[in-house]
Amino acid sequence: MTERPYVIDEMITAKSIAARIEALSREIAAEFDDTDKLVVVGLLRGSFVFIADLVRELDLPIEVDFIEASSYGDAMESSREVRILKDLRSAIEGRDVLVVEDIVDTGFTLSHVIKLLQSRKPARLKTIALLDKPSRREVEIAADWIGFEIPDEFVVGYGVDFAQRNRNLPYIGKVRFTP
Ligand code: PRP
Repeated sequence: MTERPYVIDEMITAKSIAARIEALSREIAAEFDDTDKLVVVGLLRGSFVFIADLVRELDLPIEVDFIEASSYGDAMESSREVRILKDLRSAIEGRDVLVVEDIVDTGFTLSHVIKLLQSRKPARLKTIALLDKPSRREVEIAADWIGFEIPDEFVVGYGVDFAQRNRNLPYIGKVRFTP
């Protein structure tokens, strides 16, 4: 595949992300202050950076688990068919669960995962997304906590990829195609 050339413009700095995570962690800790142990579920692969920073700010007893869902593959458009490529290791019936997502775009991924996990009858199921693009929504779904609402830009970094590249940028950047 020939890639169109592009540059990445910084959109949300690493410092702003860290500050936002600190604030959100306090809200989450308050919500789950009576929990025995919160199951923090990262949605692979995009959330791996976010969940790593989030759990280190969370002052709660937690365990970490992962679920892998994919609807984009390497494409830029959602296939609207969400496939579960890897399921949770833990049973979540009767437990407190926090699903951690990097970005909510059309909403298909989060909506599918929430339905799947709700069917397992957790005690409480909450969701957090670092980025939210409400203008792209095709499924009515909203995360309980949002880091940043962003316009319909093609973003990368901090776990988010473009054809599997740029996940390792420490900030959120905007892809700008160059002639
Ligand atoms: C991306 C992203 C979200 C999802 C959001 O995942 O990480 O999980 O798309 O899009 P949606 O709201 O339109 O469903 P992707 O399928 O690209 O897998 P990845 O996490 O491995 O990058």
